[in-house]
Amino acid sequence: MSQKKSVFSTEAAVIINQPAGEQYWRLVLEAPEIVALARPGQFVNLRVTRTLEPLLARPFGIFNCDLEQGNLELLYNVAGRGTEILTGVKPGERLSVSGPLGNGFTPEAQADLHLAIGGGTGVAPICFLAGSLQPEHETWMLFGYRNSSFMLPGDLVERTGAHCRTALDQGGAGCFHGTVIDLLRNLLDGELSGRRIALYVAGPPIMMKLAAEMAAEREIPCQVSLEERMACGLGVCRGCVVQAEDLRGQMANRTICTFGPVFPGAAVDWQSYLKKS
Ligand SMILES: Cc1cc2nc3c(=O)[nH]c(=O)nc-3n(C[C@H](O)[C@H](O)[C@H](O)COP(=O)(O)OP(=O)(O)OC[C@H]3O[C@@H](n4cnc5c(N)ncnc54)[C@H](O)[C@@H]3O)c2cc1C
Ligand code: FES
Repeated sequence: MSQKKSVFSTEAAVIINQPAGEQYWRLVLEAPEIVALARPGQFVNLRVTRTLEPLLARPFGIFNCDLEQGNLELLYNVAGRGTEILTGVKPGERLSVSGPLGNGFTPEAQADLHLAIGGGTGVAPICFLAGSLQPEHETWMLFGYRNSSFMLPGDLVERTGAHCRTALDQGGAGCFHGTVIDLLRNLLDGELSGRRIALYVAGPPIMMKLAAEMAAEREIPCQVSLEERMACGLGVCRGCVVQAEDLRGQMANRTICTFGPVFPGAAVDWQSYLKKS
């Protein structure tokens, strides 16, 4: 499906930058031009400081768009120097942000149930997707975390309107005990068997690979959102190349920032992607 390609660069005012749960931070920026065009699965490039160090912008998936207020929400965790600096940014400061970038998820027209599956910071685009599909399309979110400390605060999950199930590797009250892939298999074999399902997955590479394989075995459409270190975010530096099928169905070098980040699960060469990540 063709997606609008206008990209805006703006000096966005910070509205909120605060912890969300034990592992994440939620950043809300005033960026109405980006919000007006953004689609679930797209990302923005954000400079975390107004100084020259670090120079490169960091890519972040879009967590939520408030069209009325023109507010763009990101969800991040502290991975290194850039995101550490970002935690010190205060409301009222301005940050350079460009977007929306890349190609997002395309809702599967034939599905009668959309399963949006997230782990790690992949929960951000999954929430945006689920919120945009609801209430018109029945949507469930399946989240997989190591333990309860990684869970998103309930209000950020509930505002999507989607039904949510959580799998914890280490188990926990009210949660499925096991991986989100075990939970997915249980649902497809039980409660959800016979439904026309579409999968949308964002999370750790191994989680996306296993979900894509399960989808292929069962002939379920599946889209995955890939991540890679990015420098330009515009298809120029070739730093984010992955092996994936091109339009003729042949394996080719595809830049994640421009052809993705969302790809059909069946189009990705998972062996080479896992080796890189
Ligand atoms: C399309 C896309 C969407 C993303 N969405 C989110 C999001 O919603 N929330 C979020 O917290 N993070 C997201 N990331 C990852 C985020 O860009 C990195 O965590 C961030 O750039 C790290 O910057 P840093 O300066 O803190 O860490 P650095 O000091 O640059 O690196 C610290 C560690 O993080 C790893 N790393 C850096 N960049 C990436 C990357 N792109 N993918 C995987 N590992 C990386 C490095 O290998 C290193 O181990 C996304 C990445 C991409 C490509
Ligand atoms: S980040 Fe430069 S080509 Fe993708």
